[in-house]
Amino acid sequence: MDTSAEETGGAYRCVQCGRTWSAQVCPEGGVPCIPAFEWKEDDPVQGKALGGQYLALMELGSGAAARVFSAWDKVENRPVALKVIREPGDKEQAERFRREAIATKRFEHPNIVKMEGAGHDVKTGLLFLVLEQLEGRPLDRLIAAEAPVNPDEAFRLAIPICEALSAIHEGGLIHRDVKPANLFVARDERGGETVKILDFGITRFAGDDPVDQALTAGRVLGSVIYASPEQALRAPLDARSDLYALGIILYELLMGLPPFDRDTPLETLKAHVEERSPLLPLEFPRDVSDLVESLLEKDPGRRPQSALQVLAALDRILGRLKRSEGISVPVRAAEGIPVGGEDIKNPWQGPDKTPNQQPVESPQEAQDSSSLPWVIGSVVLLGVLWFVGQSMGWV
Ligand SMILES: Nc1ncnc2c1ncn2[C@@H]1O[C@H](COP(=O)(O)OP(=O)(O)O)[C@@H](O)[C@H]1O
Ligand SMILES: [Mg+2]
Repeated sequence: MDTSAEETGGAYRCVQCGRTWSAQVCPEGGVPCIPAFEWKEDDPVQGKALGGQYLALMELGSGAAARVFSAWDKVENRPVALKVIREPGDKEQAERFRREAIATKRFEHPNIVKMEGAGHDVKTGLLFLVLEQLEGRPLDRLIAAEAPVNPDEAFRLAIPICEALSAIHEGGLIHRDVKPANLFVARDERGGETVKILDFGITRFAGDDPVDQALTAGRVLGSVIYASPEQALRAPLDARSDLYALGIILYELLMGLPPFDRDTPLETLKAHVEERSPLLPLEFPRDVSDLVESLLEKDPGRRPQSALQVLAALDRILGRLKRSEGISVPVRAAEGIPVGGEDIKNPWQGPDKTPNQQPVESPQEAQDSSSLPWVIGSVVLLGVLWFVGQSMGWV
């Protein structure tokens, strides 16, 4: 809890003994205190020791089915995070929560939140997961505060996300809820920063997953803003659906807004299926736009085929961006890439593209080639202006 004395007015509360202190640790029980204003009198979870062991301190975040608390492990005397189900009586929520525990537990990976245990509090009936407590902020908060960010910053954030997705997909799962609120920009003890994926709440297990089918019952799960076209159509999904979500996140990081966000969820889903994804402006280096736009392809066969392929592209482009630091648009000319007219091949074309799927003319190409006359026109105009200016003695 990084709260300054001014923010708290210097008053802290111990949720265990209920007393207010000026110290951040309770002098009696040794439990960390919370800023006094964070105490909610009627909260059904705060201040409870779930399973007799995990004392819920204060809410860190929440979603539709669960709330996440900072907590104190009273047995091992250390901080943890507790993810607590909202409605203990809801059978569907409980089944999803159980599946989330099984999925999260599978991974021991630096870019996936670590689960340390799970439990059932007999007194309250609440199910809970015990997670490592992360310090930092979720990516949705970073986006709200800082986006649009530079391509190198966006790609730097995307690399650990891809590492996590690669492990998840190789482990036979599809996350299905890749979105900024489920990605945590975490600080480590050495002051470094990485991203960790959270929330396996609607993860799908590979192959036939009849329990998932029953739970899903024809609904579109997850946030519609990050839903792939195949998710929107409730068509069969594979790992490439998570890559589309990554494309939306990259677009949002670079532009400050997601490409499709309509007035109603249904309209947003329709846009994912029917509307051409907006292009990144020409100011972006070509390889950056190509990667993001390929992730946003409607047809999964035209996207990068695996998180590993995306990783390789991110690494390559980041390396190039570093070499040409400080130069944005002219990079393309400097590298000898013509500003327009080049025939762009989709390098990600998967093997499962059916012959009747004609590649759509890359809109970026259209934009590029149509800009050529303007470039020539501007150069001529500048020349004329310079000539007139000189003869008039202005320059
Ligand atoms: N281990 C953790 N450490 C710190 N904050 C967390 C942790 N897990 C989740 N959070 C916070 O809680 C929010 C909701 O967590 P999430 O697992 O996505 O729950 P839900 O399933 O309800 O969406 C996240 O966006 C994040 O801000
Ligand atoms: Mg979530």
